[in-house]
Amino acid sequence: MSTSRLKIEVARAALKYVEEGMVLGVGTGSTVNAFIDELAGAGIRLDGAVSSSEQTTARLEKIDVSIKELNHTGDLDLYIDGADEADDSKRLIKGGGGALTREKVIAGASRRFVCIVDESKRVKVLGEFPLPVEVIPMARSFVARQLRKLGGNPELREGFTTDNGNPILDVRGMDLVDPVEMESRINAIPGVVTCGLFAQRGADEVLVASESGIEKL
Ligand code: 5RP
Repeated sequence: MSTSRLKIEVARAALKYVEEGMVLGVGTGSTVNAFIDELAGAGIRLDGAVSSSEQTTARLEKIDVSIKELNHTGDLDLYIDGADEADDSKRLIKGGGGALTREKVIAGASRRFVCIVDESKRVKVLGEFPLPVEVIPMARSFVARQLRKLGGNPELREGFTTDNGNPILDVRGMDLVDPVEMESRINAIPGVVTCGLFAQRGADEVLVASESGIEKL
């Protein structure tokens, strides 16, 4: 089965968590795009959605889902999002699509976070995928030096600015055996908006699509 077919399968599996009248948190990326397509065909009427990016907002608006501000909704019952890596403890690397900060805010504000991935995202130890770190523009070089001291090799994501107007450093070679601790250490560097480790608030469920079906972690 192709990766895009697996994304559709896992997107479809996530639909069973969605209830009529919900305000749903919606992540960003190609797996989430597949989820939005499935949602469109499912006939489930939402009260609205809190979106994690301009890209997702545009797709949701196309299917007539009303976009709500998190400042007005309070906490959400459910957040659906993809990931770049997921380990057995449902800790994640996210931010390949650059929406990590809004994604982390919505995950934090949601009572249930269901992460949808295909099997290529499943890892024993996080860190093969370069860790995205969103920084404010004037702190970019300073943060890069601090990340080197933590053992990483940061690279500026060229030609990319987040929806918050910030650059992203993609960090290779970081030791993420203790992702909870590393999330704190990176987020404590002045100038870091947030890093793409979702370890302190990981997913509540990870749905993994493979040839043999959908596995729930
Ligand atoms: C965006 C993300 C995405 O969830 C992550 O990059 C996975 O994307 P895709 O579903 O396209 O593989 O964190 O910031």
